[in-house]
Amino acid sequence: MKILITGANGMVARAAANLSRELGDEVAALSRAELDISRADAVLDAVAGFGPDAVINCAAFTDVDGAEADPSACFAANSAGVENLAAACRSSGSAFVTISTDYVFDGSKKGFYTQRDTPRPQGVYASAKRDGEIRAFAAYPRSIIVRSGWIFGENGRNFLSVIPDRLRAGDNLTPIADSFGTPTYTPDLALRLRELAEADLPGVYHVVNAGDGCSYLEFAEKVCEIGGFDKSLLQPASFADLQRPAPRPVSSKLACLISEKLGFQPLRPWENALAEFVTAGSGRDGRVV
Ligand SMILES: NC(=O)c1ccc[n+]([C@@H]2O[C@H](COP(=O)([O-])OP(=O)(O)OC[C@H]3O[C@@H](n4cnc5c(N)ncnc54)[C@H](OP(=O)(O)O)[C@@H]3O)[C@@H](O)[C@H]2O)c1
Repeated sequence: MKILITGANGMVARAAANLSRELGDEVAALSRAELDISRADAVLDAVAGFGPDAVINCAAFTDVDGAEADPSACFAANSAGVENLAAACRSSGSAFVTISTDYVFDGSKKGFYTQRDTPRPQGVYASAKRDGEIRAFAAYPRSIIVRSGWIFGENGRNFLSVIPDRLRAGDNLTPIADSFGTPTYTPDLALRLRELAEADLPGVYHVVNAGDGCSYLEFAEKVCEIGGFDKSLLQPASFADLQRPAPRPVSSKLACLISEKLGFQPLRPWENALAEFVTAGSGRDGRVV
């Protein structure tokens, strides 16, 4: 396939570009410096110029707390940017896959969120992502929205991604014991993004690794078990103690109603994916850069 990937320096984009190259795709992976998705004309030119079979949008303003102080920058990327790409894909006849978030839900549900649940985003980042979903479909009904959450992998700077290296370095961590999600490993997410791009079936998909999900503490404990790290480095914290500028859902576990019915295999259990991630990083000295 001919695939254009945005936000190329990001965690998910790198995994997506790696996979596509391995599969022999013709790939244009454009960093923010090469394509700012908030610039409608530049987006139109880039998509028309490359003429992709599919665009996979991995670009986003992902600083959840920073978004509270800079809503216009957040909406420019996560809402207008998504609409710009959808409109450009409509013009060029490309499939369009864009990543959304578990944060579109408010976290009050005890079980898994499915496509039957009504989004109630809290905070600027979540609201902008939800707005992006709506604007994508309005601009281009062929859009494929992929909600994911608790993403971890190589090149990630978020908490889940740096846990193994932090523990390897002997750092103390304070993972939250009473906040829950469904972890998602970037190579597995990349595979599903590519499959969805190829299938070209519009709709909202929930994409996470299989299993019952976990708390941040359980995730960190599993890292200790896999990597042989000292569990006493983990000092459990509670969600109520989290003093952050942006609200977050206390529980945002996702399940998909349609993927398996369409023939997509469930992604492997998150513990298996985590084992691969921790083992892959075992050659490093533990300093997070
Ligand atoms: N990480 C998670 O746990 C998580 C959970 C749910 C959903 N998601 C979603 O998954 C997707 C990928 O996230 P990620 O974790 O890979 O994020 P990431 O590592 O922060 O990568 C995002 C990339 O987008 C770029 N970007 C920001 N604004 C842009 C713009 N206007 N135009 C073009 N590029 C822009 C960033 O560049 P700069 O660094 O230069 O700003 C960065 O390289 C996003 O849609 C995110 O909302 C992530």
